[in-house]
Amino acid sequence: MPRHVAIIMDGNGRWAKQRNLPRTAGHREGVKSVRAVVEESARRGVEILTLFAFSSENWRRPRTEVNILMELFISALRNEVRRLHENKVRLRVIGERAAFPERLQHRIAEAEALTADNTGLHLQVAANYGGRWDITQAARRLIAEVQAGLLDPESIDERVFASHLSFPDLPEPDLFIRTGGEQRLSNFVLWQSAYAELYFSEVLWPDFDEAAYGQALEDYARRQRRFGRTGDQIEAPTLVGARARG
Ligand code: FPP
Repeated sequence: MPRHVAIIMDGNGRWAKQRNLPRTAGHREGVKSVRAVVEESARRGVEILTLFAFSSENWRRPRTEVNILMELFISALRNEVRRLHENKVRLRVIGERAAFPERLQHRIAEAEALTADNTGLHLQVAANYGGRWDITQAARRLIAEVQAGLLDPESIDERVFASHLSFPDLPEPDLFIRTGGEQRLSNFVLWQSAYAELYFSEVLWPDFDEAAYGQALEDYARRQRRFGRTGDQIEAPTLVGARARG
């Protein structure tokens, strides 16, 4: 079972178009899939689920669609937070939230505070998030620390850099899922997904149910993760280790 699953929830617009509905009907339907995947993650013992709800680039969509997405986030927070809390889910939002309407920022802060000490599934919603934004804000913070004399530039290695990214306290994604048939990373968690297993599903997000998610998890279970090592080392670590030691 992956500890951390990251998902690009794609295909809402096409789901709606196929039914001659406005694109926003697809987003509304997509909330049901969010619920299903959150519940299935908790049931199967996934520890962290990171969902890409709104990218740094999504502001370029028509104003009405952006407004309806904002309303949808607000109402989802209003309607779901209590249930998430009862199920011990810890909710966190990653991304540049200052750009959101105040009402939404307020709800996010409330939901995070309410669920902060929960010990169940960690649900991270990426909103106004971009992988490049994350790397850039880490660089900006590192430079500020150097300028303040708090950090020696020579000490900046991958570990120090990563500790300035959006979720330094959590393990990196093991499984990166994109629904909706496209095979791109679209500026989602870039640095943190360096070793993630990629899984692309043809299923449009509103149709991505427990069974479709289960298929992704089962596919992951069949993968061999090598992190730069050879297949032999992974299959017989002690034997190869013993040989290496002489
Ligand atoms: C991508 O589909 C989807 C989005 C940009 C929004 C995702 C939002 C939700 C699923 C709503 C609820 C989320 C939470 C966390 C409560 P698309 O519009 O790009 O689809 P298309 O590629 O078919 O046009």
